[in-house]
Amino acid sequence: MNNGNIYHILLIALGISLWSCKAKNDFQGLEFAPNMYHSVPYEGLSQITDENEGNWLSNREDGLGEFYNSNPNNPHYMNMREPVANTVKRNEHGYLPYRIHKDSAEYAGRVLTNPIDSTAEVIAEGKTLYSIYCTSCHGETGQGDGLVGKVFLGVPAYNLGRVKELPEGQIFHTITHGRGRMMSHGSLVSVDERWKITRYVQILQNQN
Ligand code: HEC
Repeated sequence: MNNGNIYHILLIALGISLWSCKAKNDFQGLEFAPNMYHSVPYEGLSQITDENEGNWLSNREDGLGEFYNSNPNNPHYMNMREPVANTVKRNEHGYLPYRIHKDSAEYAGRVLTNPIDSTAEVIAEGKTLYSIYCTSCHGETGQGDGLVGKVFLGVPAYNLGRVKELPEGQIFHTITHGRGRMMSHGSLVSVDERWKITRYVQILQNQN
């Protein structure tokens, strides 16, 4: 083979490779090893409904097609399912998890506001919860004279001094994380319940 022939062959090879790169309309060219581009595990938010996509997986013996990253068993080929009808979100107001640090009570007092309005019903619920979780130490009227409080000592009255001025966010924070010898109640009462208790504590703060 002389040099001229080799150049011809190279030229043809170059022509073929350029031709194969041609993209047209939506066709982006032939994919080589598609599972290098497309995730094999399902991606939660993926929903591919075009049956012509991912044909590379369609050569199964049972003749069923599978499009990559698309779940043919779920409605609309979605990977995640819709929430079951009539299920209720974890908490009514859709809070994110409470992330204010235990030692940042004053900060909580500045940035948090009670999302639950002060209605007679809310206050009644707050009072019931208060009598379950707080009365033992803080006393029915928040004087720090509950049966446990009398022995436990150091339980402040809500309507005196610094505690009288505590903003709602800080009360919420205290219930969540506790303070000093008062233990945290975050695992005992839900976020909504804490805000309802806070409404009631505010009433006790404002008594003379
Ligand atoms: C086991 C007893 C006990 C229980 C139960 C308890 N507390 Fe307390 N609480 C304390 C003590 C003691 C303090 C004082 C803590 C300190 O200042 O070191 C306190 C302080 C507080 C304060 C003042 C915080 C501050 O910044 O000074 C608030 C508000 C409060 N409690 C609310 C509640 C609420 C609401 C509940 C019920 C969900 C509750 N506590 C349950 C013992 C208790």
